Amino acid sequence: MKIALASDHAGYVLKEEVKRYLTEKNLDYQDFGTDCADIPVDYPDMALPVAEGVKNGEFDRGILLCGTGIGVAIAANKVPGIRAALCHDTFTARSCREHNDANLLVLGGRVVGPGLAIDIVDVWLKTGFAGGRHARRLAKIQEIERKYCGQ
Ligand code: RB5
Repeated sequence: MKIALASDHAGYVLKEEVKRYLTEKNLDYQDFGTDCADIPVDYPDMALPVAEGVKNGEFDRGILLCGTGIGVAIAANKVPGIRAALCHDTFTARSCREHNDANLLVLGGRVVGPGLAIDIVDVWLKTGFAGGRHARRLAKIQEIERKYCGQ
């Protein structure tokens, strides 16, 4: 599984923890920045390459972080085909995979601590999509994308 990840300055410290976990688990990832917590960057700039990398199939999944997680989630979800889920707990991490086939996990660097964040990432990476009635609902999301984004 190939994972793209990025954060703004407010998500940088937690992103480093996530990278440590991915390295420990021998998971293949590419970090699209940012590279420090001291220099502010704009979260849409960080979200876009990860969302595009997942959309075009270069990566299987993406992980994004900002202070709350909200900004990068909003930005990433503008890319058709991206289903970015902001998770603060393992229940939503599991559910967003089973029910929503979330291809992008979003974490708030100022919201969750490193221990919980790693549990969230672990559950999210290990959980599969349940299909069935959930697939029908995802097809309806695609219809919305077609209506408003032409794809
Ligand atoms: C940066 O200060 C902060 O606004 C950003 O990380 C994020 O929380 C936005 O949604």
